[in-house]
Amino acid sequence: MTVRFNNHLSSIPGYTPGVPKGHSAEDVARSDLAQLASNESPFPPLPEVVEAISHAATAMNRYPDPAATRLRQSLADRHEIEPGQISVANGSCDFLLAAAEALLEPGAEIVYAWPSFSMYPNMAAMTGAREIRVPLKQDQSHDLEAMLEEITAATQIVIVCNPNNPTGTYIPFREISEFVSRVPDHVQVILDEAYIEFQIYDDPGESVDLLREFPNLVLLRTFSKTHSLAGLRVGYAMGSPAFKAAVDAVRQPFGVNALAQAAAVEALEHGDLIDRQIETQIAERIRVENAVADLGLATTDSQANFSWISLGENGEEIEDEVVATLNQAGIVVRQGRLLGGPGWLRVSYGTAEENDRFVAALGDAMKVHG
Ligand SMILES: Cc1ncc(COP(=O)(O)O)c(C=O)c1O
Repeated sequence: MTVRFNNHLSSIPGYTPGVPKGHSAEDVARSDLAQLASNESPFPPLPEVVEAISHAATAMNRYPDPAATRLRQSLADRHEIEPGQISVANGSCDFLLAAAEALLEPGAEIVYAWPSFSMYPNMAAMTGAREIRVPLKQDQSHDLEAMLEEITAATQIVIVCNPNNPTGTYIPFREISEFVSRVPDHVQVILDEAYIEFQIYDDPGESVDLLREFPNLVLLRTFSKTHSLAGLRVGYAMGSPAFKAAVDAVRQPFGVNALAQAAAVEALEHGDLIDRQIETQIAERIRVENAVADLGLATTDSQANFSWISLGENGEEIEDEVVATLNQAGIVVRQGRLLGGPGWLRVSYGTAEENDRFVAALGDAMKVHG
């Protein structure tokens, strides 16, 4: 007799890490590889944040605050909502899995766009729920009308990823607001805003204001992209106290470690510096997208910290070779085929020097394979 794991397990997609085979994330950080595959911040954490982590490390014999009281209060002050509307987690991914456990089961349905964030397929797979993937529109943005049409009495969750990973496209706030108003009350709307700070069209505070009107809405945000804390794992959800209670019920009590809590509290004290880093990334976006256009390649209108680049008419055939050539040049990117978009590349912005190397290497690769 061998151990029999549950039936759902075999259908859960595995995660493909954004580092080359045989390398750890630490190897990549120490080498001169340009790691442009995981939409991280190229800036190291601020010295004050590192200091807060070191200070917190001296109390590692104690469990962390299970309620993350200081962090939730800092977030509540920042977003002008009640701490009871905020939950924190070991990265915002944790909320997706917890929401799946708390809301889905066989017979239930979850609706999301595709291609979108690679974690969403896990939610149906791990619970036996039915997933409905709604294809993106021609411009690679969410088709909100088509998503509304898929909602039934069995729908438990609808996810909108805004800006969308991997395509970078952004749905303006007024369309999101109208969409949420048309979703029936029994459906939990998850607005995954991991990249919201990188878009230039709306004030990121506007979606927070929607929480007053729609108790079935939850916003997911993260310290991984803008606050340089991807390695520590801390994300947060803003929504109803009922959502908080549900995800808390299915997670372990000490979901965010003490170093992450201390780091996030400190990082929130340095909003001006973080805003400047975000502006630098937005300027890099314009530079990279112009340079890629000069190579004759199309991109979507990215509003995130990465570009989604079409490799052209025969993109699907040349994708493997282009990625291999970039890897040889020390540039690590994400292959579209693995993200649901064959013939495309997803490239995060690194430092200006890394971005220049990427553009030059892409130009060389296209000369050989394009
Ligand atoms: C759309 C989206 N949501 C959530 C996450 C997860 O972020 P975290 O590091 O907070 O788990 C990512 C990370 O890449 C993402 O792209």
